[in-house]
Formats: sequence, C-alpha cells, structure tokens
Amino acid sequence: MTEFKKHIETNKKAWNKRTPIHIKSNFYNNEEFKKGKTSLKPIELNAIGDVKGKSLLHLQCHFGQDSISFARMGAKVTGVDFSDAAINEAKRIAAEMNMHVNFIESNVLDLKLNKEFDIIFSSYGVIGWLPDLDKWAATIATHLKKGGLFLLTEFHPFLDLIKDNGYDYFYDPKPDIEIENGTYTDGGSELVTKTCWWNHSLTNIFSALESNGLKLTHFEEFDYSPFLLDGMIKKEKGKYVLEKREKNSTPYVFNLKATKK
Ligand SMILES: C[S@@+](CC[C@H](N)C(=O)[O-])C[C@H]1O[C@@H](n2cnc3c(N)ncnc32)[C@H](O)[C@@H]1O
Repeated sequence: MTEFKKHIETNKKAWNKRTPIHIKSNFYNNEEFKKGKTSLKPIELNAIGDVKGKSLLHLQCHFGQDSISFARMGAKVTGVDFSDAAINEAKRIAAEMNMHVNFIESNVLDLKLNKEFDIIFSSYGVIGWLPDLDKWAATIATHLKKGGLFLLTEFHPFLDLIKDNGYDYFYDPKPDIEIENGTYTDGGSELVTKTCWWNHSLTNIFSALESNGLKLTHFEEFDYSPFLLDGMIKKEKGKYVLEKREKNSTPYVFNLKATKK
C-alpha cells in the first residue's frame, strides 16, 4: 500500500467512527432536517443558482443532508463519500424521507462513474482530507459536462493559520497527523480518532483545477463562518467569527466556481 493509501484508510476509519455521533448531534440537527429544513447555507445557495432538473454530483457528501437538500430543490443528485457508515446512513435517511438520491461509496480520488454532470458541488471541510489535489481536479474534470458548473464552498486556508500557531500554509505531502478526542460536533466525548490532514494553498487549488482543463470563473471570500465552531461567537444571525478576532476582518470561507472548457 502506498503511503497515501494508508493515510486514506486512517481517515476512513475516523469518519466511520464520527458518523453516528454526527447524526445524533444538535450541530447537524437531523430531526429538523427530516421535517424539511434545508442543510444548505446562503453562501452556497446564492452561488449555485437554480438546480431544478439539473444533474448534480456531490463530492464528500457525508451522511447526505446537503445531497438530499439539493434533491428537494429538484436536482437529480449523486452523492459520493468514502465512508461506508456515512453512505449507509445517507441511503437509510433518504429512503425514510422518500427521496431519491444515488449514494455511492468511493474515494473521490478513484471515482469513475462514466457519466458527466451539469453541476459538481463540494463544501466545508473537504479538500484537507485529500493528499493529492491533482487527482481531485481530474475527478472533477472527468465528471463535469463542458460548460458545466463546479462549485467549491470551503473553509479558507488562512483560517487554520489564524486560529492556531503551528499550521503550515503551503502543501506538504507529509500529512499533519492528529489524535483527537471528540469531534467538531457536540457529543462523542468518548471518541478518539487519528486523522491525516493536508493544507492546500490557494495557488495549489487554482493550479490543480487549471491544469486539468477547468477554468476559474469566480472567487469570493467571506468574513464570517456560517457554522459556530470552536472559539467562535455569534456576530449576527447565521454569521460567526473567532472571539479573539472579533474586531479584525478575517477570511473564513471562500466560494470558487470553475467550468470545463
Ligand atoms: C466535513 S465532511 C463533509 C462536509 C459536509 N459539508 C457536511 O458537513 O456534511 C467531510 C467528508 O469527506 C469525506 N471524505 C474524506 N476523505 C474522502 C475521500 N478521500 N473520498 C471520499 N470522501 C472523503 C468524509 O467521509 C466526510 O464525510
């Protein structure tokens, strides 16, 4: 097994352990979601536009809330994640809600669906789990229709640097390996996970996409997080900032759009 494959297996174990805790958490509030509340935030909703009738590939879909939210908006959705626990739960929740979404268990770096989509979407805490953005961009290029939309709504790579000392900005193939108690949601204090994380600079993201035939059409940075994460306070409804940076402007999230030439 190559080093990267071993690291991916490590991450998969961690995500399999986290999934049941996330489903029960207030953070994901799956009960409200099942009653009809969308899990999508205005940041990505405003950027993606009308998805009705469009084929949409959702990469790293976790246990499927966003995929099902897009399906409720009329998109024909395929959701992909490498965690079998997450995909099994996603299928169960969709069936319970009578929603049709095609959930597939796969490493996004190995994905081959022999199909092209109108839209590819991925969001909030995704690329840091990937050791190789060139392969990731190749997956997007292979599965996007010519002229289609790729939307990545992601935490800003500056955020980790601002939050904690000790993070590197530029990509290093050697991952940051962390043994962590608990997870980013409430619950699961007994959980211990080992994870491998790679930081990707903005240049790294842009050039991986460009060198795989995708053209950047939009890039936008947001000065708040739509999620209340560790060390954050509420600035206004749906907008959270780091307490220690309350008075400083800080990039929290970005939207990147690209299309296939
Ligand atoms: C933070 S979560 C997804 C964020 C999503 N917005 C959410 O909150 O539901 C990251 C997801 O990436 C998945 N993942 C990590 N590495 C992956 C890989 N190599 N291939 C496919 N899925 C992967 C994990 O299983 C997890 O479900």
